[in-house]
Amino acid sequence: MANSTQKREDGLYLREAKLPEDFEGIVDVGAKAFALDPVFMFWGNVMEITDTGLKPENDQNLRVFMTFLLKTCIDMKARFTVICDPAANDKVVSAAYWVPPNERIALYQVGRLLRCGAIGFIKAWGIRGIDRITTQYLDKCHHSFQAEFKKRGLKRSVDDTWYLNLAMTDPAYQGKGLMSLLVREMFALNPEGIYTIEATTPKVKDQYAHLGFELISTFTLGKGVAGEDGLPKQGEEATGMPVSPMIRWPASWASKDQTA
Ligand SMILES: CC(C)(COP(=O)(O)OP(=O)(O)OC[C@H]1O[C@@H](n2cnc3c(N)ncnc32)[C@H](O)[C@@H]1OP(=O)(O)O)[C@@H](O)C(=O)NCCC(=O)NCCS
Repeated sequence: MANSTQKREDGLYLREAKLPEDFEGIVDVGAKAFALDPVFMFWGNVMEITDTGLKPENDQNLRVFMTFLLKTCIDMKARFTVICDPAANDKVVSAAYWVPPNERIALYQVGRLLRCGAIGFIKAWGIRGIDRITTQYLDKCHHSFQAEFKKRGLKRSVDDTWYLNLAMTDPAYQGKGLMSLLVREMFALNPEGIYTIEATTPKVKDQYAHLGFELISTFTLGKGVAGEDGLPKQGEEATGMPVSPMIRWPASWASKDQTA
């Protein structure tokens, strides 16, 4: 895939990530961007937040997870694009992980998972966290995607798509069009790809819809045990949180039968 750089009028610029040089910077943006994400707090069994955000131990556990996730995406040969700020020592302020078609790690590939730091992640979030991510989340998303493919008569697996594993912007830089730049750059480079993602908040769902992703379904995660903020709740407050699998179809399908 072509190597791309783009500079904005404000000086912020997009480029392919350089690894391992950018590794810590990407993990840091992820930990900041997802600190108060309801789904991530639910996965990480966060019990409460303080006025300043996550407690130090929860922040540390999130960083362990982000490190593990980044390593798994490197192992799956993901394409990483980042946006940097030259006015802040070129630090990474936004990033996207694009996992290519047919590059996925299965749960039974224990060696690969261990190589990516699974033990540290299990220690951080425990068996409960793994169950929440796999059975309660990833399996349901996969089922939704596959059901949509079946409905459309598509013979391929949903794993035969580009998976936008993570998109994130440092909160101090949000609302400036950085995610749009990352997503549009990829679509321009590879307009005929099929892209899958999951939106973990209603706002992000609307943002992805704005960028051309179609809502496939919405299911509720954590109903009966967590609120819409991802923190533990009981009774009527334990509404759970909406998760929305979404797909961006190839550009050419907009004008013809969508069963290629
Ligand atoms: C989601 C996230 C990556 C967005 O990053 P961002 O850089 O602030 O996003 P942008 O400013 O590029 O906004 C994206 C687009 O959504 C549009 N948008 C903003 N609010 C919107 C809304 N409520 N409804 C629809 N579109 C909206 C923007 O106008 C922009 O489109 P444009 O470029 O055509 O103007 C960032 O909020 C984040 O890191 N959140 C936490 C992590 C997360 O949830 N990641 C996504 C799941 S993997």
